[in-house]
Amino acid sequence: EAADRRSKLLEINKVAAKYFYMLLRSPQGVHALRYFEERQLSKETMQHFGLGYSNKFSDDLYQYLKKQGYEDDLLKDSGLVSIDERRGGHDKFWNRAMFPIMDANNRVIGFGGRVMGEGEPKYLNSPETMIFDKSRNLYGLNFARVSRRSHILLCEGYMDVIALHQAGFDNAVASLGTSFTNGHANLLKRYTKEVYLTFDSDGAGVKAALRAIPILKEAGLTAKVINMRPYKDPDEFIKALGAEEYQKRIDEAENSFMFEVRMLERDYDLSDPESKTKFFYAVAQKILNFEEELERENYIEAVAAKYQIGFEQLRSVVRSEGTRGG
Ligand code: CTP
Ligand code: MN
Ligand code: MN
Ligand code: MN
Ligand code: MN
Repeated sequence: EAADRRSKLLEINKVAAKYFYMLLRSPQGVHALRYFEERQLSKETMQHFGLGYSNKFSDDLYQYLKKQGYEDDLLKDSGLVSIDERRGGHDKFWNRAMFPIMDANNRVIGFGGRVMGEGEPKYLNSPETMIFDKSRNLYGLNFARVSRRSHILLCEGYMDVIALHQAGFDNAVASLGTSFTNGHANLLKRYTKEVYLTFDSDGAGVKAALRAIPILKEAGLTAKVINMRPYKDPDEFIKALGAEEYQKRIDEAENSFMFEVRMLERDYDLSDPESKTKFFYAVAQKILNFEEELERENYIEAVAAKYQIGFEQLRSVVRSEGTRGG
């Protein structure tokens, strides 16, 4: 019964995706098509990601799905429409550039819809439904899982995944307008050992990276951080500098612990001896989280080299912090 309902919901999402796809290529979709073209997406890329357009009438999809014979009750559960007793069916998405969200098996499970140009909210997303669990799905994973690259690029947005893919980085995925979870990490673990974080370079992106790193490590994955400065996100970076420069940034990606230390350093004033001392104690505490002696030694070496402190000096701070903690 529940399985039956799930397969019906998958069917509705698929029908909707095909409808949006068709609209983008119809006279009604010219603005959306121009929007995607202005963002430098090729026809092939639009097709690959099944991009579409939701019409400007607020019950257009609802009417279409009704004509296909779907019941109100089921349509409500799809998250694509809401049904008001008096006013009838109302679409969740209208007059938006549409991004179908697929699970790892290429089944459409929901949508993201972007306003074309300025407007709030910039993105609308399908709500969680019987078939759409945001913490267990990643945008782009259906492609990334069969990529020949062994690592995964984890970014923030739909357009980042698409721009990276178009530039040849078919191993890019994004969490779906939610923060990165244990569920996501365990999902990635099925396909890779190494995750490169390529979040936005703004404060929110740094915060998101600092939250994702321990989650990835906890799942047993290696994390590295890609620096995208001076650009805002991978989409803008690629547009400005191209794939070759992006590849260089991958090659130069920072060890996640060293990234954490560099971000920690922002809270201290290393020109002040007292603050500098506190910084090294905080770093020593972090180094103690590594279980293996050799690993601790290697990080002591890396930090010592970067922050002008003697190796032996830092090692003794780590030792004293270790015994102090018990
Ligand atoms: N997001 C969302 N709802 C919003 C804003 C963002 O769900 N109101 C999600 C989307 O998945 C989006 C991602 O968070 O792709 C990253 O947000 P942001 O960096 O603001 O957008 P971009 O992906 O850079 O969007 P664009 O390039 O289209 O402006
Ligand atoms: Mn491709
Ligand atoms: Mn952002
Ligand atoms: Mn962007
Ligand atoms: Mn962004």
